[in-house]
Amino acid sequence: MTDLQGKNVAITGGGTGIGAGIATALAAAGCRVLVGGRRQEPLDALAAAVEGDLQGHVLDVADRDSVKRFFEHAHQHLGEIDVLVNSAGVNIVNRSMATMEPDDWDRVLQINASGAYYCMQQVLPAMRRRRDGVVVNISSIAGKRAIALGGVVYCASKFAMTAMGTAVANEVREEGVRITNVYPGEVNTPILDNRPAPVSQEHKDSILQPEDIASLVVAICRLPPRAHVPEIVIKPTKQEWV
Ligand SMILES: NC(=O)c1ccc[n+]([C@@H]2O[C@H](COP(=O)([O-])OP(=O)(O)OC[C@H]3O[C@@H](n4cnc5c(N)ncnc54)[C@H](OP(=O)(O)O)[C@@H]3O)[C@@H](O)[C@H]2O)c1
Repeated sequence: MTDLQGKNVAITGGGTGIGAGIATALAAAGCRVLVGGRRQEPLDALAAAVEGDLQGHVLDVADRDSVKRFFEHAHQHLGEIDVLVNSAGVNIVNRSMATMEPDDWDRVLQINASGAYYCMQQVLPAMRRRRDGVVVNISSIAGKRAIALGGVVYCASKFAMTAMGTAVANEVREEGVRITNVYPGEVNTPILDNRPAPVSQEHKDSILQPEDIASLVVAICRLPPRAHVPEIVIKPTKQEWV
């Protein structure tokens, strides 16, 4: 097993939800964690709540200059990144073709797909040079099946992330770098507050929780360098999978 003590980790969208759950678990495993998001406040709140080496830095994954500054900060304060988790993502309320606007299409693709590409592009050269590194893309079951719950542009953006992760994983597989696409079903996080129909507390309690995804990601990171998980679906037991 790989000892995670002292590993340098960058997590986009790490201030809340799944990213925060992964950040908390990896910090507990001894990693040095940098979390990024557009709002400073959730990053500060997480850094204050978590025991271990965790700091926040503002990041807009849709803005290439912001991405560059985030990874320069990572390099200065941590060193080269061993693990990148792409968890930044958004959805919109009006998700059907009839109700969404072209600006929604541009924004969601820019954050969910291009943002993950920009961040991966920052860390891969050093990972390839060192012949070591793990990238975890938090895609979605909407990145495997074009489900109505996700909506038109969210599904398109997650399919893009899925294809990018798979294509790049094949490109770097002989250089010791491993890329995993994780496809969660419903997880109880703030993103649910952006659904067209309100989600009940009872439903939120019955679906996956961020720590469930975090356990999976920690297990993936702990695998020995010879073992690669290209993709994995995790869903609430009660959620249908077809
Ligand atoms: N919850 C689910 O049911 C579910 C299921 C499958 C997949 N996912 C995926 O899981 C990932 C995490 O979502 P979540 O469920 O944990 O919801 P969340 O709590 O809303 O997390 C999304 C995070 O992304 C950050 N973010 C959004 N736009 C950003 C940008 N342009 N630059 C940097 N950070 C940005 C947000 O922080 P700021 O607003 O401060 O930037 C937020 O912390 C997303 O990619 C989502 O699509 C979620």
